[in-house]
Amino acid sequence: MTALLELRDIDVGYGDVQVLRGLSLEVHPGEIVTLLGSNGAGKTTALRAVCGLRPLLKGEIFFEGQPLSAVPGHRRAALGLSLVPEGRELWSQLSVRENLELGAFRSRARAAANLEKVFVLFPRLRERAAQLAGSLSGGEQQMCAIGRSMMSEPKLLMLDEPSLGLSPLLVEQMFKIVSDLHAAGMTILLVEQNLTKALQLARRGYVIETGAVKLKGSSAELLANPAIRSAYLGL
Ligand SMILES: Nc1ncnc2c1ncn2[C@@H]1O[C@H](COP(=O)(O)OP(=O)(O)O)[C@@H](O)[C@H]1O
Ligand SMILES: [Mg+2]
Repeated sequence: MTALLELRDIDVGYGDVQVLRGLSLEVHPGEIVTLLGSNGAGKTTALRAVCGLRPLLKGEIFFEGQPLSAVPGHRRAALGLSLVPEGRELWSQLSVRENLELGAFRSRARAAANLEKVFVLFPRLRERAAQLAGSLSGGEQQMCAIGRSMMSEPKLLMLDEPSLGLSPLLVEQMFKIVSDLHAAGMTILLVEQNLTKALQLARRGYVIETGAVKLKGSSAELLANPAIRSAYLGL
């Protein structure tokens, strides 16, 4: 089966600083795959490379088997790639509805129907539709950022640390949302520092260290791995 997304041996850097060193990973249709690693490991950089926000120094990224090197960053969303960035990056001075509508560029004709789907998924956003995004709570902002991505009818949803900065209760809610999206058929690449939660949700995971895959396997294998238990779970 062709991977939906494949990163094949990519190097990425910032100026003279090389961050990703031969990173390879795959996401297959219908999977939740989690990309794990401590702060600074290169997780966000990998997602930026997929979106075309950072150039590759080496390697190739494939989406539905097609090399992305020929596709400029601004055209990749139209292929069905959507990133919910670290820190949400909402337009704080625009309303919730306006933020959501800005995500609809790929499918203007279906924008109203997709907005309704987002409101069914997140009833809270319907209640807050006219409110400025900047006035939402952290959890609501994360819902709005995910909703904005859903407006583009993505084939692959990439979530960069959706639980970051949320209270424990909201973290639970956020993982439930990701689980519901997956149950509804969405393919998800989930970047997390919360290993336990992410591995409970995902089928497989990759642990990266200094820009390369250190460990990979099924979630059960990773959760049982002594190196992970001591280095990341403090067990
Ligand atoms: N814009 C940037 N310019 C220079 N270095 C950066 C930039 N963004 C990230 N880095 C560096 O790249 C490394 C990986 O960062 P990042 O991909 O954000 O890691 P993670 O998301 O895993 O925490 C870090 O050492 C970070 O300091
Ligand atoms: Mg990051």
